[in-house]
Amino acid sequence: MPYQEDFAVEQFMDAYETKAKYNLGETCCYSLSLDDIEKLSGNRFELDRSMRLTYRDIKGSDELRTQIAALYGSSLNLDNVLVSNGAIASNYLLYYTLVGKGDHVICVDPTYSQLYSVPDMFGADVDLLKLTEEDGYIPNINTLSAMIKENTKLIIINNPNNPLGSVIPNDIMKKICQLCEKHDIYLHSDEVYRPMFHSLGPDLEVPESACTLYSKAIVTCSMSKAYSVAGIRLGWMITADKQVLRDAASRRDYNTISVSVIDDRIAQYVLKNAYKVIERNIKLCKENYQYLTEFIDKHQNDFKYVATPQGGTVCLLRIKNITNTYDFATFLAEEFNVLAVPGEAFNFPGTLRIGYGNSKDDLINGLPLLKKANDLWIARH
Ligand SMILES: Cc1ncc(COP(=O)(O)O)c(C=O)c1O
Repeated sequence: MPYQEDFAVEQFMDAYETKAKYNLGETCCYSLSLDDIEKLSGNRFELDRSMRLTYRDIKGSDELRTQIAALYGSSLNLDNVLVSNGAIASNYLLYYTLVGKGDHVICVDPTYSQLYSVPDMFGADVDLLKLTEEDGYIPNINTLSAMIKENTKLIIINNPNNPLGSVIPNDIMKKICQLCEKHDIYLHSDEVYRPMFHSLGPDLEVPESACTLYSKAIVTCSMSKAYSVAGIRLGWMITADKQVLRDAASRRDYNTISVSVIDDRIAQYVLKNAYKVIERNIKLCKENYQYLTEFIDKHQNDFKYVATPQGGTVCLLRIKNITNTYDFATFLAEEFNVLAVPGEAFNFPGTLRIGYGNSKDDLINGLPLLKKANDLWIARH
């Protein structure tokens, strides 16, 4: 059996997610019910109750895959899309399809640890490309270029980044694609937070998706974060490289067959009303981010952004006077009923990952408790 290390972020979330009163660990934009979406959009969710509940479309329905492809413009179509149980399954499937012993893989760090631990588990030789303060926490092209070896098969990026909230600008994205093309390397871009580009600032344009920039780029995304319906567990892989998609589909036959037909129908409904859902979530993230920034400004002696968030729903908060943030996050959850994920889950001790896309109520009530716990912890240690 190949060794697989524990998935620290998911385990910490699982321990407290349903118990904590205030959730500052959430990565999804405040989740929606079907009733909420009906109210938001004015459109009813219709389910054909006579539909036979069989496996149905193995790769995802034509209607859904067409809707997904349309999110990426006109260059790709339904044949470029494979549906999965969340982006987490697409990521896993992609590594299962592409990498193994003898392959070299480069992955950004910090990021969602699945992106480097699964290639490692499949036997690849994985090097981490550290995102640094000097580079604004986006990939440094010269460093990346110097890391490429004869057997580099795959480069993995995450845009917007979890946990930093940094966004790779278009010019850097294009350079990454050119580098991959020059060395004939696949590029995996986990874009699960797309299109939550709520705070890009005046000099950044909305980044293009990697799958529209490079023929060997594979993008993964889902309905979980920006579309607020993580509970339907529906994600996808999209790429111009049909061979990769065929190979992935073939492997997928062994562990998925198809996703739930009900989930497929709900995803179609949400994507039909995507404009309204995204509009609601951009507004929510903007407002909550501003609230969080005001809180940090007020308590500058204790907290600081590692990177100023530009997109996504999460950021890393430096906890200036506490080094063991794993124990502190446990204390915060146990004693104050507030969930925030320790930076240790991202190889980044001395920080907490804060999710600000959740309800404003969680922030308004959770942040003062974070400050209180911080003061108490410092007084006691
Ligand atoms: C970067 C990243 N990729 C993938 C996932 C998995 O999301 P899902 O399977 O819900 O689409 C997450 C969840 O937090 C994530 O942060």
